[in-house]
Amino acid sequence: ADPLADHASSQGFEIGAALAVDHLNNDSQFANLAATEFNASTAENTMKWESVQPSQGNFDWSGADQYIDFARNNGHAIRGHTLVWHSQLPSWVSNGNFSSSELTNVMENHIDAVAGRYSNDVKYWDVANEIFLGDGSWRQSVFYQTIGEDFVAQALRAANEADPDAKLYLNDYSIDGINAKSDAYYNLAQDLLAQGVPLDGIGLQAHLINGQVPGDMQQNIQRFVDLGLEVAITELDVRIDMPASDSELQQQAQDYREVFNNCLAVSGCVGVTVWGITDQYSWVPDTFDGQGAPLLFDNNYNPKPAYDAVHDVLDSG
Ligand code: G3I
Repeated sequence: ADPLADHASSQGFEIGAALAVDHLNNDSQFANLAATEFNASTAENTMKWESVQPSQGNFDWSGADQYIDFARNNGHAIRGHTLVWHSQLPSWVSNGNFSSSELTNVMENHIDAVAGRYSNDVKYWDVANEIFLGDGSWRQSVFYQTIGEDFVAQALRAANEADPDAKLYLNDYSIDGINAKSDAYYNLAQDLLAQGVPLDGIGLQAHLINGQVPGDMQQNIQRFVDLGLEVAITELDVRIDMPASDSELQQQAQDYREVFNNCLAVSGCVGVTVWGITDQYSWVPDTFDGQGAPLLFDNNYNPKPAYDAVHDVLDSG
């Protein structure tokens, strides 16, 4: 059948996938689907801090370059992921005992190097990732504890200097509907915009549980767009208690349909990225005991009901 990307592209919509470089290199079915079904992508791991700057001043571009080449060659809209995050952060940063001004320098140097290197290729940057907790309070990352909340504005300004054309995002999970955590982003976004900080968008990761798409997701997207921001669904997956029954797979298809419809309904919502291609490689079973099957293709690359639902939504859009 005709690929998802064709239908998305024809209506100016982006459908992306998280891509692991190992699989691009070693699994031709994975690489083929990445190239044909999607018009956008995100590196699943290889652009993270521990991958690109494992020790201070020592940059390793091998994985990131391979991903970028693949994505560029296939005409993908590239989402850079991620510049400042508490996880997959090397211990020279997290345990470095830097002063506030030293850590600001470390962070700005990192952003300058990474966003600068890929400034011709990256369309969106997840500049700061997962900075709030579920109750809307600040996560006690090394950046927050050392610099205070201004690290976010500093990071956005540094990214804007390194890549003035990229759209700069804050990205998080469990902010898909209206709740204390998404309220924290809403308030922070207002503050940053009022200060003239270069913030362009909010990424809703959308790591969802089957049957639990927030009913106010579209309203949540709309409120950020009303601030003058864009929104992207950045890491969509819908996890199921294993083994997945037929009715659960139908529910999952319905959930995918709803998420795409919520984004398509708001003109400032630029696209949806799914967090992987095949269930076989998903991060979900490694993290959530007894849960899995969250993606569009099963372990053997057969398209699931969720794939058909997305195809249908993009077709009729
Ligand atoms: O590469 C090593 C390998 O050498 C080693 O043998 C193996 C043993 O555990 O680990 C491998 O590294 C793993 C890496 O993925 C690559 O597969 C790490 O343990 C594992 O922790 C890491 O997980 C990634 C996770 O982020 C880390 O937090 C997932 O692949 C990735 O999908 C996930 O993505 C995050 C987003 O960046 C941010 N939002 C949440 C999302 C899901 O957690």
